[in-house]
Amino acid sequence: MTQTEFSKNSGADVAFSYAPGKIIVAGEHAVVYGCPAIALALDRGVRIAVTKARFESEGKGPVLRATGLGFVGEVRPGPSGLGPDVLRRGLQRLVELCGDRIQDLEFIADCAIPVGGGLGSSAALSVALGRGIFRYFGEEINDGSVVEMAMELERVFHGNPSGIDHSSITHGGCIWYHRGEQNVKIESLTSPRILRFAVGVAGPHGGTLQMVSALRERMRRHPDMHRHIFEGISQIVFRMRDALLEGRLAEVGELMNINQGYLNALGVSTPELERLCTIARDEGALGAKLTGAGGGGAVIALVDEGAERIAQAFKQAGYFSFCAQAFDEVKTNYAS
Ligand code: PMV
Repeated sequence: MTQTEFSKNSGADVAFSYAPGKIIVAGEHAVVYGCPAIALALDRGVRIAVTKARFESEGKGPVLRATGLGFVGEVRPGPSGLGPDVLRRGLQRLVELCGDRIQDLEFIADCAIPVGGGLGSSAALSVALGRGIFRYFGEEINDGSVVEMAMELERVFHGNPSGIDHSSITHGGCIWYHRGEQNVKIESLTSPRILRFAVGVAGPHGGTLQMVSALRERMRRHPDMHRHIFEGISQIVFRMRDALLEGRLAEVGELMNINQGYLNALGVSTPELERLCTIARDEGALGAKLTGAGGGGAVIALVDEGAERIAQAFKQAGYFSFCAQAFDEVKTNYAS
């Protein structure tokens, strides 16, 4: 019996959904300019329960109640709603996309990834909301429509995203992502080795929209130099793809270190992110780099073994940390 059948049959009138967080292993920022990138879905994410709102008199529109690692509280859509502005606008966009039928719904979200850390929390929220709404209304979940809906919400959250976040989250596992002029190419990259990471979080990142816009401005001033950097990052991503497919993790790590050098040159690293990379490398990581937009956020350290030791070293230096690996079971009804 599916979760939806269970919900309807039991009269519980609740649907559950889940979407994982993500990390970008190589190619962030360059991906916005048509270069390829490699990303993977994480084994922690956002769980949503969709149900009919319990307290109708509280306000207009659907309500999002969030708990977990980040914003905790209630959100209602629109300018006169409740909660952080960006979430209010996101919820408003969801009403525009899904129509009045979601006006009296309540979304209870439990987020196991730090919010605003470049680990895909907003994309995971968008994908989980899309899946949960389909499921609540007993409709077939169509990945294409979920990605489209998530992309619309991501536009509210991030302006003009490349699409790598919610594509990797919806797809699961490790992917090759390339947004060309005409189309988007997504391919599974299955490594014979398990990809294990220690993740250290320096705090919220500088905002995807802000970091991407500031880089665009620097690029306008120095177009040739940035083109060279993007070519270098593309080479890294191509080499990493082969190294991953052939299980050469030491090489993947080395390529991550070089990618971090380029990200620093692009102006999206910070002293704290560099410090986290140094801690990880000193503790024996195969490689370490920031992930996502930068200007804060998280560092990922690829390990052969000893992820716990590196996570502990991050913690001792005062940073939130955890161990992670790729998550493939994206299509499960509800991850406990
Ligand atoms: O939102 P973040 O931190 O996951 O960053 C997304 C990656 C960027 O390449 C910086 C932006 C994009 O749209 O691809």
